[in-house]
Amino acid sequence: MEHVRRLTGIDLNSYKRPQMERRVTHLRDRRGFSNFSAYAAALARDASLLRELVDRVTIQVSEFFRNPERWDDLRARLKAAAITPLRAWSAGCANGEEPYSLAVLCAELGLDIDIWATDLDERALQVAARGVYPPRALVNVSPERLARFFEPVSGGWQVDTAIRRRVRLERHNLLSDPYPHDLDLIVCRNLLIYLTEPAKQRIIAGFSRALKPGGHLFVGSTEQLIGIHPCGLRLVAPFIYQKEAEG
Ligand SMILES: C[S@@+](CC[C@H](N)C(=O)[O-])C[C@H]1O[C@@H](n2cnc3c(N)ncnc32)[C@H](O)[C@@H]1O
Repeated sequence: MEHVRRLTGIDLNSYKRPQMERRVTHLRDRRGFSNFSAYAAALARDASLLRELVDRVTIQVSEFFRNPERWDDLRARLKAAAITPLRAWSAGCANGEEPYSLAVLCAELGLDIDIWATDLDERALQVAARGVYPPRALVNVSPERLARFFEPVSGGWQVDTAIRRRVRLERHNLLSDPYPHDLDLIVCRNLLIYLTEPAKQRIIAGFSRALKPGGHLFVGSTEQLIGIHPCGLRLVAPFIYQKEAEG
């Protein structure tokens, strides 16, 4: 784990051990190494082996409007709050489906939005920058949205330039890099689930500090947060939390 941290900046200690161990052991065995020291030494020499490991430990599964009914809830909250321009952060944005979904939603609501979209994985960010997606990523996109916000291109559909311009993509490690301030919305979905409890608590406390009073945190549909009250966040809709007003 120390070796992987030095080579990639990824601290596997903060991820749930059984799942990570299964994934890494499986890769190691498949590549014919009988122990971790031999595998670690090979990772330092072979960039493609390292790339494969990073791919395996950062899980990039995503799609537009993942869990559509939760996005409907978010839409209702954003519409009611009517904050424009909205300062948002999509943390762990993978290939970009999530921040672009948010940008589409705000365009429909007539809200101006600035989205900082970050991920640990450079390759995912490159895919996000191209903004081209296969049909399977678009199963929850209605024909109206497809016609209004996407262009057909070879290999799938490309997100419109106007939507892409709303999203600033950057590499950021939630476990070690500084967080922004004064945000109206943080979307962090299907990432916390992979982390140990202390790592998760640290991130949630950081999110709470990063939000303005009244700002929202939108998490994944398996990520009910326990014990978050000390962080000043309260549940306002399924998987949507709001930072309490100060004082
Ligand atoms: C399963 S994807 C979730 C994508 C999207 N948020 C969604 O819900 O569809 C998890 C993403 O979290 C990223 N990730 C994992 N650990 C991270 C960390 N410490 N900092 C930033 N991103 C991280 C992975 O690279 C991956 O792209």
